[in-house]
Amino acid sequence: MIKVVVSGAAGKMGKEMMKAIWDSADAKVVGAVDPFAEGVDIGSLMGIDATGILVRGNLKSALTELRPDVMVDFTTPSTVYSNICTAFDANVRPVVGTTGINEEQLETVKEMAAKSKTGCIIAPNFTIGALLLIKFAAEASKYFPNVEIIEMHHDGKIDAPSGTAIKTAEMIQKSRKELTGKETGKLEKIDGVRGGYFDEGLRIHSIRLPGMMAHQEVIFGGLGQTLTIRHDALSRDSYIPGLLLAINKVMELDKMVYGLENIIF
Ligand SMILES: NC(=O)c1ccc[n+]([C@@H]2O[C@H](COP(=O)([O-])OP(=O)(O)OC[C@H]3O[C@@H](n4cnc5c(N)ncnc54)[C@H](O)[C@@H]3O)[C@@H](O)[C@H]2O)c1
Repeated sequence: MIKVVVSGAAGKMGKEMMKAIWDSADAKVVGAVDPFAEGVDIGSLMGIDATGILVRGNLKSALTELRPDVMVDFTTPSTVYSNICTAFDANVRPVVGTTGINEEQLETVKEMAAKSKTGCIIAPNFTIGALLLIKFAAEASKYFPNVEIIEMHHDGKIDAPSGTAIKTAEMIQKSRKELTGKETGKLEKIDGVRGGYFDEGLRIHSIRLPGMMAHQEVIFGGLGQTLTIRHDALSRDSYIPGLLLAINKVMELDKMVYGLENIIF
C-alpha cells in the first residue's frame, strides 16, 4: 500500500481526490493538510463516517511524523512550490495537480528531484481526454498553423489561462509551421477582447462561469474550412484514473516528470 498525505484536502479537488485514494486498492490516505480546515475529521470532507484522521495545519510536521511515500498536492499557485520543496526535504515524492508553477520553479524542482533521486510528477491535467486533445491539436497544427484556444472553467478557478491551455499552446508552438496569411483584428475596441496573446496567430481566451467544470476548444482555421477539437471534463471523476496512475508511477521514478502524457503515451 502506498501511503499518501493529501495537501489542500479541504479544497474542491482535494476532497474528491482524497476520497478516490481512500477507495483505491493500491494507496491509502494516512494524513491530510489544509490550514483552513485544521482539526476537521477527513471523513466529513469525504462525506463518509469519521475516520479518526484529523486535518493538520502544517505540511512539514505532517510529513515528518507520518512518513508517507507520496504527497498529493491540490492547493494554490502561491503555495505549491514551497509544498514541493517541503516534500523533497522530508524525502516524500510529490504528485502535483496544482497549476500555476512557473518555468523557473519547474527547473528548480527538476534539479531537486534529480539530485535527491526522488520521483516527482507534476501534471497540469490528469484527464486522459485533455491529454489526447493536446496531442491531436499539436498534430493538427502541422496542417493548420492558424489557431485559437478557448478554455472555459467554473468561476471558482483562481488562475487564467488554465495550465492545460498553456500546455496546449506550447505543444502547438513546437509543432506548427509557418502561419498562413497575416494576423488581423489587432485593433481592440474593448481591451482584451481578442484574448491573451501567446504567440503570433495563437491567442488564448479564458471564460469563467458558474455551471461550468473544465472545458477546452482548439479551433483551427484554414482556407475555406475550420477544425474544432473539444474536450469536456463533466465531473471531477475524470481526474481519478490519471491521479491513481501517477501515484503508482511516481514510486518507480527517480526524477521529475512534467505532464502525465509522458507516462501514458
Ligand atoms: N491537474 C489537474 O488535473 C487539475 C484539475 C482541477 C484543478 N486543478 C488545480 O488544482 C488546484 C486546486 O483547485 P481547487 O479547485 O481544489 O481549489 P480550491 O480553492 O477549492 O482548494 C485549494 C485548497 O488549498 C488549501 N490550501 C491553501 N494553502 C494551503 C497550504 N499551504 N497547505 C495546504 N493546503 C492549502 C485551501 O485552503 C483550499 O482548501 C488549482 O491549482 C487548480 O487549477 C488541477
